[in-house]
Amino acid sequence: MAIISTFCKKGGVGKTTFIAYLGHYLAKQGKKVLILSVDDQNSVFKVFGVQDKIFDANDNYLEFLIAGHVDLGDILIEARENLYLIKTLNTDKLSLKLTLERSQEKKLQHILHEYASYFDYILVDFPPSSSRITEVLLDISDHILIVVGLDALGLGGFINTIQYFIDNEIDLRGIKYIVPNGYSKNRRAPRISLEQLTTQAQEFTPHAVVLEALAERSIIKNLQAEGISPFDDEIKSELSSYDISNKELLREDLSHMFATLEID
Ligand SMILES: Nc1ncnc2c1ncn2[C@@H]1O[C@H](COP(=O)(O)OP(=O)(O)O)[C@@H](O)[C@H]1O
Ligand SMILES: [Mg+2]
Repeated sequence: MAIISTFCKKGGVGKTTFIAYLGHYLAKQGKKVLILSVDDQNSVFKVFGVQDKIFDANDNYLEFLIAGHVDLGDILIEARENLYLIKTLNTDKLSLKLTLERSQEKKLQHILHEYASYFDYILVDFPPSSSRITEVLLDISDHILIVVGLDALGLGGFINTIQYFIDNEIDLRGIKYIVPNGYSKNRRAPRISLEQLTTQAQEFTPHAVVLEALAERSIIKNLQAEGISPFDDEIKSELSSYDISNKELLREDLSHMFATLEID
């Protein structure tokens, strides 16, 4: 079992999208996958079109498991075959508890340890803000992937992320991959940003591999509006044939990239 996290101190760069699609790819390979959403927005639910499950019951959040009110299986929400999601209600409050009571931190680690016997992968989706729970989960991640948006703000997010690791004494060598997102060969800004990111990564995270940049693809927003993943086979939706062929291209690109990742 491996714990894999996508992180960046900047919102809207594609963290949730990347971890959701990676999770679905692994699930399609027959792996048992858990995606832990420690983002109060729980936006990973929307990627799979199960956002109605965020508010359908109010006792199945991670917090209720940590408090000992429910069992491990009670908070799992099945998004696809082999793919389960866990939602959080209030990460700030949870973080405060983790800070105040050391035993809570142990409990969280114990819970993850128990899930590890059921799942091949636990993927963690973080918000851009950071609190104690972020530090704890980054610390116990086997592999951290930093998703970076290819524009000036995105690069700023990369530097802030490095600073955050240093300030909180999180080992920078935990960063296995850097994922540049939003590349477009027809625009100058993403090209230059990618060059700058590569240079900065060599300086600050020399042990991390900078992956081939993910292209900016409008199909991603269309799919997410419909709650369809590129790894869904049957689709009963409003997608045009143009969108369907773009979905297949996206799926091929992602499969190619995911197959190269060493995340076991
Ligand atoms: N490669 C991409 N091309 C186009 N849109 C993308 C791409 N990656 C992500 N998006 C879109 O950008 C927005 C932010 O992505 P999200 O994964 O939610 O980012 P984060 O989790 O970092 O906040 C979403 O609307 C998503 O559909
Ligand atoms: Mg997100």
